[in-house]
Amino acid sequence: MSENNIYPVSSEVAKKSLLTNDQYLSDYAESIENPESFWNEKGKILDWITPYTKVKNTSYAPGQVDIKWFEDGELNVSVNCIDRHLATRADQVALIWEGDTPDQDANITFQMLYTQVCQFANALKSLGIKKGDVVCLYMPMTPEAAVAMLACTRIGAVHSIVFGGFSPDAIAGRIIDSNAKLVITADEGRRGGRTVPLKGNVDEALTRDGTNCVEHVIVLKNTGADINWQAGRDIDWTEITDTQPTDCTPETMNAEDPLFILYTSGSTGTPKGVLHTTGGYLVYAAMTFKYVFDYQEGDIYWCTADVGWITGHSYLVYGPLANGATTLLFEGVPNYPTTARMSEVVDKHNVTLLYTAPTAIRALMAKGDEAIAGTKRSSLRILGSVGEPINPEAWQWYYDKIGDKRCPIVDTWWQTETGGILITPLPGATDLKPGSATRPFFGVKPALVDNEGNILEGAVEGNLVMLDSWPGQMRTLYGNHDRFEQTYFSTFDNMYFTGDGARRDEDGYYWITGRVDDVLNVSGHRMGTAEIESALVSHPKIAEAAVVGVPHEIKGQGIYAYVTLNSGEYSTPELYAEVKQWVRKEIGAIATPDILHWAEGLPKTRSGKIMRRILRKIATGESDQLGDTSTLADPSVVEQLIKENQEIQ
Ligand code: PRX
Repeated sequence: MSENNIYPVSSEVAKKSLLTNDQYLSDYAESIENPESFWNEKGKILDWITPYTKVKNTSYAPGQVDIKWFEDGELNVSVNCIDRHLATRADQVALIWEGDTPDQDANITFQMLYTQVCQFANALKSLGIKKGDVVCLYMPMTPEAAVAMLACTRIGAVHSIVFGGFSPDAIAGRIIDSNAKLVITADEGRRGGRTVPLKGNVDEALTRDGTNCVEHVIVLKNTGADINWQAGRDIDWTEITDTQPTDCTPETMNAEDPLFILYTSGSTGTPKGVLHTTGGYLVYAAMTFKYVFDYQEGDIYWCTADVGWITGHSYLVYGPLANGATTLLFEGVPNYPTTARMSEVVDKHNVTLLYTAPTAIRALMAKGDEAIAGTKRSSLRILGSVGEPINPEAWQWYYDKIGDKRCPIVDTWWQTETGGILITPLPGATDLKPGSATRPFFGVKPALVDNEGNILEGAVEGNLVMLDSWPGQMRTLYGNHDRFEQTYFSTFDNMYFTGDGARRDEDGYYWITGRVDDVLNVSGHRMGTAEIESALVSHPKIAEAAVVGVPHEIKGQGIYAYVTLNSGEYSTPELYAEVKQWVRKEIGAIATPDILHWAEGLPKTRSGKIMRRILRKIATGESDQLGDTSTLADPSVVEQLIKENQEIQ
């Protein structure tokens, strides 16, 4: 499939969409030439308690990176997501909940959401939670996850959501780093017919040193399972909420007050606490939601992401609700109990806008027409993709089968750090090329640079950077501004470095080629190789480990781990299973290695640095393309690894 494979905007789509290509081009030019006046206008997508008079105050200068948007404005996020819609849409469904099995669902109107959020906000207050306190959420995909998020924003508490698949150690690390005062969780979560012991994991996390910042744990009784209960610390969600007043005065927040922390993996060290603030983030989430999904009155929108990821923040909860949209929150997985579940949910709720990940699409595609059996999907209008590059075959299948060749696909490129979508097609404006995220959103100024930071022009491949700030950009790493500057602004001066590589074609379309650093993307989940390695070497029998990514048909990337055992230890099938299980327990199931390669030694430079470039080539069976090996301390190690790899394959 070539990049000349173009899907022009159909006349049908053009007629109904918010934007035409001419509007995109002129608005984009305006947003780049006059960002101040552009965003001054666009900031009005929100209701402000105190309107801003300053719009943009940002600097990427080395050592002085400082990002502020709408800095003298004041607002409240929950008011923008709920209260302001009550006059016109109190009885409109805000949240559709679809349970793990099709017999469980619920509709929550804006009025109901208002009451639930206010009551829970009052419950938080009754525990002494106040503006600026950090609250850790470890929640199943039930409506209470959204309620808890919005309740935090109502009183100015900063939420830090930990994905429900993470291990007790991962929870503990995030609690300690953010100094969380409260944890909100459930007895258990449900997913694909299985249960997840959320409370049990929190209990275990709170036995770790340094977690005594946590004063209380609010527990939602979700499945009703038997759980341990620590009197004084643990509090029942219903008991503390049901008697609360149904109104709660919203806290007035400055635009630059912290809204949430979300931990994400980097190429080195422990996960980083990405900090987003209130005004710019919400303006950007609301704006991008509206234009990327061409949101219009009556749309039913479904984003399949978990609230534990940035997509679940910006495009499951905040972006849609700020627009007064109906958003569907799904507890389960796309292929349970039937292979066609995703399509069945679309039909059941008349979903018009569907946003999912390539890994889900590939898993369904592998089942062929079974994934759409017995469904019509005629309500669908727009399809979205996020999280990793979508290969043209998966794009085509999504377009042909799920969308019946009627629905444009918006392949949205962005990151936890960017807060919202940066590069994407817009339905009525952009001719599509399968596999390309196409063009920048308003106000976004991408560039490609070589390894020295020289800006490359024309059709070319390079490192993807941003030359200027946009309102949704992260402001810092929680408690570590130096690491923030170091990670994102020190590779290339005066530019935000994304960590991704990309190619630009003759039409100015961007094609993301994937990470250029030591970060993996497994099923759309971001994993640091360093994190997995440190989990491996914490095993008592392991001396050294190096992790690389390999192509994987469904997951996009699989995890290939080279493992050197301590002397006197021997590789056995039992140890193979044990080591995999070990990583699963240390980090979570998503970090489980696909392949362990028992290695006697790893290729190192004479100064002792592991040569990952070589390990990547060996793992992918490209040992004929090792490149320069002259700096290797011991070339025989490489030959041995190549031989072993051939036996593994
Ligand atoms: O490599 C890019 C990939 O996912 C990374 C960001 O991961 P995370 O912060 O977890 O956020 C995922 C959801 C926004 C990026 O650096 N990525 C994300 N979307 C795309 C993508 N790669 C290619 N195409 C995309 N549409």
